[in-house]
Amino acid sequence: MNVLIVCHSGYQHTQQVADAIGIGAKLALEDAAISQSIMFKSADQVSLDDLRSADVLIFGSPVYMGGLAWQLKKLIDSTSKLWMAGELEGKIGGVFATYGGYGGAGGGVEQTLIALHANFLEHGMLVCGFPRQLTGYAHAGIHWGLAVRTGNEEGMPDGVDDASLMAARAYGEHVVETALRFQH
Ligand SMILES: Cc1cc2nc3c(=O)[nH]c(=O)nc-3n(C[C@H](O)[C@H](O)[C@H](O)COP(=O)(O)O)c2cc1C
Repeated sequence: MNVLIVCHSGYQHTQQVADAIGIGAKLALEDAAISQSIMFKSADQVSLDDLRSADVLIFGSPVYMGGLAWQLKKLIDSTSKLWMAGELEGKIGGVFATYGGYGGAGGGVEQTLIALHANFLEHGMLVCGFPRQLTGYAHAGIHWGLAVRTGNEEGMPDGVDDASLMAARAYGEHVVETALRFQH
């Protein structure tokens, strides 16, 4: 099973979360004892062939100015050829975002996750949310996906805490376990 984890990360918070998702994904694949490849790419390095060959796509973005970073949107808009041919149909998708969250309301994190859903669903993919029973739901889960707050109460960057990294691992495991259920 090929898992491709893609993000943009201007200041490494989102990349740290991507790495933790990868650890969870690897655990799930090892448990299933199947051949595996887990690839990490930044949004500007992804080719159409990378997307074609992945069974599982996990996309993440920081929230910039209330929404998706343009680097992700640029990648998504470059996939229309795949859409025309239905080449991503039936693949499993996962979504994550990091956000400063100044003011406590999330600063656009839900719409960032939902924007990624819309793009995956447009491609005919199946999207995994973040179920309430998963480790870390109360800390970094939203039913749409994984949402990691990285700002402190003054709105300044505060890093990715351990509880969020645990939630990220749990999410990576969950997405891969879901994909394994669909494998024949
Ligand atoms: C240009 C810019 C715009 C941002 N806009 C928002 C925002 O609208 N809402 C929010 O909650 N956080 C916002 N943030 C904070 C980032 O989402 C947060 O620091 C994130 O974890 C950065 O991830 P990165 O280190 O991977 O780039 C913004 C940060 C930058 C640099």
